[in-house]
Amino acid sequence: MKNGFVISILVILKFSFSISDANVLSFDKIRVTQESKEKKLHINGFEATTSYWRTQAQNKLKSQLKHKVNENVAKNVIIFLGDGMSLSTVTAARIYFGQKQGLSGEESLLSFEKFPYIGLSKTYCYDKQTADSACSATAYLTGVKANYATIGVNPKVQLNDCESSRNKLNQLSSIMNWAQNARKATGIVTNTRITHASPAGTYARTANRDWESDADMKAFPDARKCSDIAKQLIREEPGNLFNVIYGGGRKKILSEKIIDEEGQRGQRIDGLDLIDEWLTNKNSPKAYYIHNSEGMNQMNHSNVEHVLGLFESDHMKFHLDAGSDQPSLKEMTASAINVLKKHENGFVLFVEGGRIDHAHHQNFAKHALEETVEFSEAIQTGIEMTSEEDTLIVVTSDHAHTMTMSGYSKRGQDILGLNSEISDVDNLPYMTLSYANGPSGVKKRYKIKKDEMKFNDYRYPSLVPLNSETHGGDDVPIYARGPHSHLFTGVLEQNTIPHFIAYAACIGGGLTVCDTRL
Ligand SMILES: *[C@@H]1O[C@H](CO)[C@@H](O)[C@H](O)[C@H]1NC(C)=O
Ligand SMILES: [Zn+2]
Repeated sequence: MKNGFVISILVILKFSFSISDANVLSFDKIRVTQESKEKKLHINGFEATTSYWRTQAQNKLKSQLKHKVNENVAKNVIIFLGDGMSLSTVTAARIYFGQKQGLSGEESLLSFEKFPYIGLSKTYCYDKQTADSACSATAYLTGVKANYATIGVNPKVQLNDCESSRNKLNQLSSIMNWAQNARKATGIVTNTRITHASPAGTYARTANRDWESDADMKAFPDARKCSDIAKQLIREEPGNLFNVIYGGGRKKILSEKIIDEEGQRGQRIDGLDLIDEWLTNKNSPKAYYIHNSEGMNQMNHSNVEHVLGLFESDHMKFHLDAGSDQPSLKEMTASAINVLKKHENGFVLFVEGGRIDHAHHQNFAKHALEETVEFSEAIQTGIEMTSEEDTLIVVTSDHAHTMTMSGYSKRGQDILGLNSEISDVDNLPYMTLSYANGPSGVKKRYKIKKDEMKFNDYRYPSLVPLNSETHGGDDVPIYARGPHSHLFTGVLEQNTIPHFIAYAACIGGGLTVCDTRL
């Protein structure tokens, strides 16, 4: 900004919306005095010039023109999955991220929003218009769409049908199997229970996502011949070959007779201690079990070949509620890459920001945005620790949510607060962020007080009362960077994602860039 100058008073446009004719926006000029010069720098400063926007756009055009398609083979792949990270979540989180730095926020970008390629993912299940995390994990990790709440099996397997899920013809291999067959190292990181639907998509085959431990299967006598998800992780491929397993959910791994490091009782009724079994199977001085940040920090990563890190009995805590004993998603990601990057054949790593979804289900918009920012930081770590030349990074989501961002707040308005407008029907204020449904289920509109919304777990308003807010059926974004990231453009069925990754990384049974070079 060579000629940047600050004007102390400026005219901005206020949109006023006419209900009688929704297509007509009348622009009403109002004067705004300079409140906080720093916070409003973008608005009151150089952004008010014609040259700012022209220069910004011309610079972007030049950088796009310089961009070269990367047709290398992807030695490494990192899949970052923001559970429930809808487009409105990304937009609101980017504003929140900017506002935390004292900026007005709208102009900010999260780490992955700087990626060169973006596509849209159609997330519906085989049998449902709106996906859950199980059918969608099956799609983006095995390349085949499945029924709602089933994992790693094709649509022939109905929910709870253990028998048909045992049929090998109905079972699917995941991108982790493909990576291991190509002698790549593999790892999974999540802040949910390690047996929860999204991480389970990397290793499990089950007719019900809730069968996380044998105790969860008690009520399903017909499922006796099926293995619970935790047992599949420890005993079956590809789970038993993972080099890194980080997440929560010790209780699904431990017997009810065992009290864990934090005083929490296990849940298994078969008496198994699957942590001990995992260590015994590894039978190696290079295999570690850790349960907190300290254990992670003390580990000499150059000596680690296998690591099982379980940091909570249940899901890991929300980022805002976590103490220092729990590693952050970013710290787990860094540790995982340090273990995996030693492998000369490369690695495939799956990292889930799993609690964005949990926050939305509770209408906890602040937690959802905070979890999204933490997810963005984990991705930044992935960017910094790898090279764009040989590492494909794909960031996507499994499904949307019903949170929306209502107009027409002025620039820089607190994204977590009240809209700067009030209703022209009942003259009451409204939140910028609100939900179509969920536990807040507002029956009658009222004057929301600032005091209510200061809590991290303030429930943002929703229209339809439900115990748990639902997922949204709208498409979710796919952001890609690195070898063959240009494939991830257009409107794509969700199950194409692992096919494209496999092509770039020369793994799996389909077409790969290595074949086509023969
Ligand atoms: C970690 O292990 C490597 C290889 O055994 C060794 O060279 C290095 O000094 C160790 N680092 C620390 C901090 O102990
Ligand atoms: Zn969900």
